[in-house]
Amino acid sequence: MTMKIKWGVIGCGGIADRRTLPGMMLADNAELVAVMDTNPKAAKACREKYGARYAFDSVQALLALDEIEAVYIASPVFCHREQCALAAKAGKHILLEKPMGLSVAEAREIADDCERAGVKLGVAFMMRFHSYHREMRRLVREGLLGEIVSARAQFTCWYPEIENCWRQNKALSGGGAMLDMAIHSIDLIRYITGLEVEESTGMVGNQIFQYNVDDAGIGVYRMTGGALVVVDSAFNIPDDVSVSKLEIYGTKGSMIAKGTLSQVEGGSLEVLAVDNAGGYDAAQNRSLVKPIPISVEFGNMYTKEIEAFGRAVRGEGEIPVTAADAILSQKAIEDVYTENKA
Ligand SMILES: NC(=O)c1ccc[n+]([C@@H]2O[C@H](COP(=O)([O-])OP(=O)(O)OC[C@H]3O[C@@H](n4cnc5c(N)ncnc54)[C@H](O)[C@@H]3O)[C@@H](O)[C@H]2O)c1
Repeated sequence: MTMKIKWGVIGCGGIADRRTLPGMMLADNAELVAVMDTNPKAAKACREKYGARYAFDSVQALLALDEIEAVYIASPVFCHREQCALAAKAGKHILLEKPMGLSVAEAREIADDCERAGVKLGVAFMMRFHSYHREMRRLVREGLLGEIVSARAQFTCWYPEIENCWRQNKALSGGGAMLDMAIHSIDLIRYITGLEVEESTGMVGNQIFQYNVDDAGIGVYRMTGGALVVVDSAFNIPDDVSVSKLEIYGTKGSMIAKGTLSQVEGGSLEVLAVDNAGGYDAAQNRSLVKPIPISVEFGNMYTKEIEAFGRAVRGEGEIPVTAADAILSQKAIEDVYTENKA
């Protein structure tokens, strides 16, 4: 058996503590060596909770440990650029949380730094590991839906004003609901359909909350081959009434996933398909098409993400989401913001 990847974790806040570290504990090829957070209490708490040998409040101290082979960076977005540069210089492979940087330009600099240093860089779009999303991609590739003509996704939450919150300050986060949430939606639509964005437009706004990032937005895209896509996200819809939805339509079928845009693998997927759409029917009568039974086994998206990146580090697989790939998702969102500058 190959040696486990020795990991260091930079940023022990929400996502690391709530999801990725628990996921890492279940990974068959990962060993947590050290954790780091500028808040020493958070680092110490994670060291104890997950059995890391070291807790630091400085990135340099963590990177100085020779035994660490890979770092998972889950700090606020404004820290990513500098921390990636330091980690790359120290020869560590990097699994970086989304969005890669404050802007596409910054994301490209991060990719260049890693390339120059010869370290592997993966981006943590973990929703690609959801079993339903993998199945949706497989069905599209198999041709079940015919030619993809449209897709839409909605991903929302409730995010009221919080004092000194980095995510609610554009200089520290790069953007609001669209960059934080809709980036997952466009990333999944690209992943599932295999289509790329060719033209973008959209709108963002502040409807309910007055922080200086968007509390709502909508992106509209024309994809390769002409499929039309809409993604919308909001920070102003209560969690209890948020319905995450991902819909893909083609000339022969449709797929509707509910509750799969989430940090927990679950939700539902309904797939409908016809062999032949037939001729024009002015009455648009619908015969009852029975949903195709879909059976998948749910797992832990974060465990799968850590294992897959670890295999790539060992040269036993591809990097699941490369920087070049992740940059295309970030650009799709940034183009909506740019559109709104005028
Ligand atoms: N993939 C997902 O499911 C998902 C979900 C949430 C967040 N994220 C991403 O993860 C990253 C972190 O988000 P979060 O929600 O965990 O944020 P958070 O604010 O909950 O946690 C960030 C942590 O980083 C620490 N920190 C601040 N400055 C630091 C520095 N210079 N070096 C190291 N640590 C520092 C903070 O003390 C805090 O503990 C962001 O890029 C975010 O977009 C991804």
